[in-house]
Amino acid sequence: MRKGTIGIFDSGLGGLLIARSVIQKLPRYDYAYLGDTKRVPYGDRSEEEIYTFLREGVEFLFKQGCVLVIVACNTASANALRKIQRRYLPRYYPNRRVLGVIIPAAEYAVLQKRAKRVGIIATKATVASGAYRREIKKLAPRTRVFQLATPLLVPFIEANRLGEAQPILERAIRSLLRKRIDTLLLGCTHYPLLKRTIRDCCGKRINVIAQDEIIPRKLLTYLLRHPEIEKRIGTRGQRKFFVTDITENFSALASRWFGKSIVLKKTTIET
Ligand code: DGL
Repeated sequence: MRKGTIGIFDSGLGGLLIARSVIQKLPRYDYAYLGDTKRVPYGDRSEEEIYTFLREGVEFLFKQGCVLVIVACNTASANALRKIQRRYLPRYYPNRRVLGVIIPAAEYAVLQKRAKRVGIIATKATVASGAYRREIKKLAPRTRVFQLATPLLVPFIEANRLGEAQPILERAIRSLLRKRIDTLLLGCTHYPLLKRTIRDCCGKRINVIAQDEIIPRKLLTYLLRHPEIEKRIGTRGQRKFFVTDITENFSALASRWFGKSIVLKKTTIET
């Protein structure tokens, strides 16, 4: 039987950071990354549109042979993953799996000793979905959750205009610090690209949680618990990168992190 691949999906380039840390931890598997760079950002879109985009992304990755797709995009995980898992997969791809980043991040956050007042910065659509609050409250009902949408950040990060992102970020963090948070969860793929600035801004007393530091371990645990999926994943160390638009910043970041020889394939995913 031909083996499959692990897919990693994001609306843009932020998911490359998750891909890099996952591949560093589990290098032997075959991977395919898809960034919907033509339609990023998702964070200001409706739930319906986010669902359509995620379904198209997942469908594309399945056609590339993925047996398991990680939705690195928080906006898509928060707004569309449940529908993908409950309706789309059972009907069209009952033997494949799609996993998100909200529940793993929420589980990790509540396990931290000091996490009594958790601040979350995320896109508008992630905050509006209430997914983080719901998942954290399910696990730890007494934990206070303070969410803040920072919609301007993603376009600046996607365009590598980090200098302009910085003051927005600092303002957001200051406003959460006024709520006396003890933990800050970065609920968006793109924010960990600025995590050094964020950690400096927060100081030592605030525990900053970045998903690229937790998803690889969560994936390993998942694969150990699901040998029926693990055994279907190829181990030739293959990496494929697909984007819906080739942008300068994406290409620069991808070759910096995955080597100059990587090939970006431009593709259309709209169905
Ligand atoms: N990938 C998105 C997320 O993690 C951020 C970028 C966007 O708005 O599409 O929420």
